[in-house]
Amino acid sequence: MKSKRRIRGFLSITVMALLLAACGGGDGQALNIPPVLTPTSMTSTTDFYDLSLREADVEIIPAMLTRIMGFNGLTPGPTVRARVGRQVVMSHFNGLPVTTLGGAPGDVAIHLHGGHVPSSEDGFPTDKVAPNANRSYTYPNNQLPATLWYHDHLMGYTGPHVWFGMAGFYILTDDYEDSLGLPNGAYEVPLVIQDRNFDSTGKLVYTGNRNGETGNTILVNGTIEPYFKVASRKYRFRVLNGSNARKYQIALSNGQPFHVLGMEGGLLPAPVKVNYLVLASAERADIVVDFSSLPVGSSVELQNSLGSGSTANIMRFDVDRVETDTSQIPSSLRPLEKLSASQAVRTRSFTFSGCMMCMMGGGPWVINGKPFDPNRVDANPKLGTVEIWEFRNMSMMDHPAHLHQTMFQILNINGNLPPPTHAGWKDTVNVPAMGTVRIIMRFADYAGKYVLHCHVLEHEDNAMMARFDVVP
Ligand code: C2O
Ligand code: CU
Ligand code: CU
Repeated sequence: MKSKRRIRGFLSITVMALLLAACGGGDGQALNIPPVLTPTSMTSTTDFYDLSLREADVEIIPAMLTRIMGFNGLTPGPTVRARVGRQVVMSHFNGLPVTTLGGAPGDVAIHLHGGHVPSSEDGFPTDKVAPNANRSYTYPNNQLPATLWYHDHLMGYTGPHVWFGMAGFYILTDDYEDSLGLPNGAYEVPLVIQDRNFDSTGKLVYTGNRNGETGNTILVNGTIEPYFKVASRKYRFRVLNGSNARKYQIALSNGQPFHVLGMEGGLLPAPVKVNYLVLASAERADIVVDFSSLPVGSSVELQNSLGSGSTANIMRFDVDRVETDTSQIPSSLRPLEKLSASQAVRTRSFTFSGCMMCMMGGGPWVINGKPFDPNRVDANPKLGTVEIWEFRNMSMMDHPAHLHQTMFQILNINGNLPPPTHAGWKDTVNVPAMGTVRIIMRFADYAGKYVLHCHVLEHEDNAMMARFDVVP
């Protein structure tokens, strides 16, 4: 263990030295902004997209090539921009080899994380698309606008598949949100934060640590600790913790506050001003940062207060010009339909824990004592009803619990009301070690099979997942 850590520390220094050498002064690399995907065709109701999943060699460390697997050969994949009420059809060609990076199978199951979609379109972990096959997924977009993301969800291999690159943004908006005057266009930027390990030849290293794979190098949109040139004005950042396991506490190095507009499920009733925000794996934060009080020529770092050494900094903003700013942060955003406990028809309890005895059935992480079995139904909420689910963490690690099918609201965390930033619609909630979280949600529109799981991908892959069927 100790020697492994020393090797990682050394590699991180190597990566840093290479970066410094390549850039002559340590300015780093410019932030990559994933391209927005153009529909291949459009009808009055639907946008059609074609993607091809493949291995590719990309330059992440200057002057080195890193083999990744990504949508259109990119990591992160191209951004899909969707509108509420307009259907999206994403057609994927699986161009991966039968055995791909990290020794993982080239089969995939593509999931729209945060999407409210029919069961057949959800990317259930056993709904495989084999190499050389094609599959299209239809997303109705009959949900509130939000920052969603698409990623692989293959049973047992989501960890390596995402680590090596299979994830991208899917941003859903509507006319109402457009009318709010929030920063948009070039001033609305998606940021996916991911940690990775590289060896001295630039190869991604994945060990499959069952406690959660963490890396010593922080990437934003696939660029190592980048800089982003900003004007002295407000920017909207859609921040996604796309890391397999690492939790971040994001904060600005000058101590300046920022506004949280919403988390996974879209806009809050009102913006919340904070100095920092914790994001567990798969959580998103829609934030506005105002650079207008910073002089041209100055810089501010986006930091990770939970990190140290090479994981303490996330990226840097360089203020390089003055611009007038006509955007605003309205004092009210979108009214929230608050679900109340009295609407719930039942309460279910799910205990998240370790289980050495369950290693045989795939493990060692379990929900209610059982490792994931795609053929066993662990809960059967009735279509159209509201339920309360209680997540009890009986282990010494946090478990960010995520469910498919619907967004939820947090009733309480260890008996306390959620902070205002977490009081809107969410699809992932961090259940603290030995803690309890209660959530409430309505299972509307779609019956069929879905999953609840821990979003530490190595916990998920090692069976911390449960199937639930929404029954008509
Ligand atoms: Cu982001 Cu079921 O996953
Ligand atoms: Cu999901
Ligand atoms: Cu977990």
